[in-house]
Amino acid sequence: MRIGRLNHVGVAVPSIEAAKDTYRTLYGVPESDITHTWEMPAQGVRVAFVNVANSQIELIEPLGENSPLIKFLEKNPAGGQHHVCFEVADIHAAAADMKAQGAIVLGEPRLGAHGTLVIFIHPKNSNGVLIELMQTPHEGAH
Ligand code: CO
Repeated sequence: MRIGRLNHVGVAVPSIEAAKDTYRTLYGVPESDITHTWEMPAQGVRVAFVNVANSQIELIEPLGENSPLIKFLEKNPAGGQHHVCFEVADIHAAAADMKAQGAIVLGEPRLGAHGTLVIFIHPKNSNGVLIELMQTPHEGAH
């Protein structure tokens, strides 16, 4: 297994709308390159993407009282860099390979924000960085 392109950088924020404003006004990202915000109840997040030339920033905000982001934002009240996502050709093969190498795979493959399956690898396996592996989305998926 070899990771493919960097798909996005996940940033946990207390307010997606405020974060969108920052990317619009401070960093000049046009409205047309910022997606609408939607809810992913199974993941406990609200999510939106900011498109940049070669990648995306994934803005994630807690949804519901069991959101995994609540603890993160308690430690980082202003928000913070949460995870990095790389594409892989086959998510099940990637999960098996990670486990075979002794890495800690957090949960089973599940549907991610791009509509393809994702897994997360524990930060202790990658210098403190939470890694998301995502099966490469089809062309045209957002
Ligand atoms: Co992500």
